[in-house]
Amino acid sequence: LWCWGDITWGHSVSTDLVNWIQLEPVIEPDNPSDIDGCWTGSATILSGGQPVILYTGGSRDKCQVQNLVHPKNPSDPYLREWTKTGNNPVIQPVVPGLNRSQFRDPTTGWIGPDGLWRIAVGAELKSYTAALLYKSEDFLSWTRVDHPLYSQNLSNIVECNMWECLDFFAVLPGNNTGLDMSAAILRGTKHALKMSVGYFDKYLIGVYDLKRDAFVPDTIVDDCRLWLKIDYGNFYASKSFFDSKKGRRIIWGWSKEADCRSDDVAKGWAGIHTIPRTIWLDSNGKQLLQWPVDEIESLRTNEINHQGLELNKGDMFEINGVDTFQADVEIYFELTSINAAEPFDPSWLLDPEKHCCEAGASVHGGIGPFGLVILASNNMDEHTVVHFRVYKSQQKYMILMCSDLRRSSIRPSP
Ligand SMILES: *[C@@H]1O[C@H](CO)[C@@H](O)[C@H](O)[C@H]1NC(C)=O
Ligand SMILES: *[C@@H]1O[C@H](CO)[C@@H](O)[C@H](O)[C@H]1NC(C)=O
Ligand SMILES: *[C@@H]1O[C@H](CO)[C@@H](O)[C@H](O)[C@H]1NC(C)=O
Repeated sequence: LWCWGDITWGHSVSTDLVNWIQLEPVIEPDNPSDIDGCWTGSATILSGGQPVILYTGGSRDKCQVQNLVHPKNPSDPYLREWTKTGNNPVIQPVVPGLNRSQFRDPTTGWIGPDGLWRIAVGAELKSYTAALLYKSEDFLSWTRVDHPLYSQNLSNIVECNMWECLDFFAVLPGNNTGLDMSAAILRGTKHALKMSVGYFDKYLIGVYDLKRDAFVPDTIVDDCRLWLKIDYGNFYASKSFFDSKKGRRIIWGWSKEADCRSDDVAKGWAGIHTIPRTIWLDSNGKQLLQWPVDEIESLRTNEINHQGLELNKGDMFEINGVDTFQADVEIYFELTSINAAEPFDPSWLLDPEKHCCEAGASVHGGIGPFGLVILASNNMDEHTVVHFRVYKSQQKYMILMCSDLRRSSIRPSP
């Protein structure tokens, strides 16, 4: 299921985030500081418009280090070739208590009030997991700040270790305008710290305390299983960036595929990118909201429209004419009554996927499941169910959305 190959940075360009042209790979393992793979990193536009990329390299002794590259020819509109700096690695895994193989994925840089660049790097240390903070004047020579940007004690919870693919960005409650971190820093914005941990991309909303140079979450939740997730489906290792052209923040993640190794090799890839999404903070200041980028609508053709369908328990309405693997579905369900909603058990929040499995698509509840059966074979041997249930919580109703993948792929027996 895991098919890494030689981890390199591929390179594709697009003017609309929908149609992509694949170019030659730009960062490949070819020296001691990345010979075991060119892993995740982030691009930063330096003052003067010069882009650079900091990325994690795996060295031969399973150490993780941070390396810097810059465009060979900054006037090439496609930035086809990149050069590794002679100083690589620019950051070594030398921190007391640091596990040298758990030190990766530098963020995009931002400028603090003192005019110095900062980045955060995920790290697992003896008793805690952290977003380590580094400072630099020139992006080449980095010093670790004594305290992390944010950290969590690991003594009680085992499922929170190693924050991968950290992302730290500024957001304004109820305003879907994206912000450039450096430009927004003094404007009293809120901040989101996103980390990929376990199987999910989770985040905390808080403020960036400039005096302490630290992220302070609005609410401290010790058990990271209760942290909000960017997406409860197949979505990991996301990164966001500020799109200065359209003034929005865009996030996209990696969807793993469940193909076997030989199928991956035959296809030529393993895993896909999700559709890019605009991301912003809800007006309640607590939760990130997201929506596929507008450009995706350019792919909409062959609309099929049904309205006013009445569905009773057990009914199934077949939508004919969708014979593609990709469909953009807008659906509104109107319930005639929600009196039958069953009580919501807060312990489900610890692992909603587990509850989705227990309350599978074929298990009838007070309200639900109702939803869609997609990618179904004619005899329904193979199908995927996206279903919803409504529960009654203390003051409000809760909606559970599940995707049941258990019948999504029925492979013929060998
Ligand atoms: C460092 O992390 C790796 C990967 O999780 C683990 O296998 C190894 O035991 C860790 N080393 C120490 C000294 O904790
Ligand atoms: C983690 O918690 C333990 C027990 O409460 C405490 O002794 C230790 O100092 C804490 N470590 C950090 C890094 O906060
Ligand atoms: C959202 O933020 C932008 C940038 O700060 C600002 O120009 C705009 O007026 C704000 N919009 C609303 C609706 O507050």
